[in-house]
Amino acid sequence: MTILQNKVALVTGAGAGIGRAIALALAGEGAAVAAADIDLAVAEKTARAATGNTGRAIAIEADCGDVASIDRMVAQTVAELGRLDIIVNNAGVTRFADIMELTEADWDRIHRVNAKGVFFCLQRAAREMIRSGGGRIVNIASISGRGYAGASNAAYAASKGAVIALTKMAAQQLGRHDINVNAICPGVTRTELGARNAVTRAAARGISVVELQAEQEAQIPIGRANLPEDIAAMALFLASPGARNITGQSYNVDGGLVPS
Ligand SMILES: NC(=O)c1ccc[n+]([C@@H]2O[C@H](COP(=O)([O-])OP(=O)(O)OC[C@H]3O[C@@H](n4cnc5c(N)ncnc54)[C@H](O)[C@@H]3O)[C@@H](O)[C@H]2O)c1
Repeated sequence: MTILQNKVALVTGAGAGIGRAIALALAGEGAAVAAADIDLAVAEKTARAATGNTGRAIAIEADCGDVASIDRMVAQTVAELGRLDIIVNNAGVTRFADIMELTEADWDRIHRVNAKGVFFCLQRAAREMIRSGGGRIVNIASISGRGYAGASNAAYAASKGAVIALTKMAAQQLGRHDINVNAICPGVTRTELGARNAVTRAAARGISVVELQAEQEAQIPIGRANLPEDIAAMALFLASPGARNITGQSYNVDGGLVPS
């Protein structure tokens, strides 16, 4: 018996990194998975890997910064998989930059996906969940939204703070529909996004990426960075029956880097 049998889960940004690990973890527990990504080719790879586990996974091309695209993504999930029980709002973007280098275009690009996108994915998914009598919403925030000094940039930190605040408010207003809303705040996590930032950071400091990563890990009390699977384990728990009375919370998964 798998704990998410007969559940349908939609994961955004599921083509790589944390989103891919989450999609595979949910599929591994029996959920039918819609893997959505702005890059259809990578979403298809995730869907193929997830199909190996459950036999039911689809890939969807979606831009989570565009409300019409979000509407199509949710509609396609329900049309092809029959319902929507779980959404993991994971798609996110950033770049490493000092506060004084950030432009209006940076702010708009980052907030379009990380803040506006998470809000409308949450709202549109909740519409389906209200109709079907409940659901689980998991937002991927960041320790950057909790004051982590090593955040990629200040606009990104603000977008993740928005996700943490949205999680609290949405939980208050959606609880009566039996919808739980929680967030995960990953710390340093080894993904493409993390690797891109590490290259820029290391170049700015005149050190190698290996030296930078060793420095980062030395600051983490548990002594190691996250793998995407560390975030997926928490997402799986928040989507599982055991978390039915947990809502409005944001959990750091960061090896103790930032005290909550
Ligand atoms: N890697 C880290 O250290 C770290 C730390 C804290 C929080 N996070 C957060 O975790 C989430 C995933 O990060 P990751 O490191 O796996 O990133 P990643 O860049 O490795 O993967 C992100 C995926 O999202 C997709 N994507 C980008 N823009 C999109 C859009 N507009 N619509 C749909 N899909 C889109 C990309 O194509 C990619 O497949 C993000 O929200 C990020 O802010 C990451």
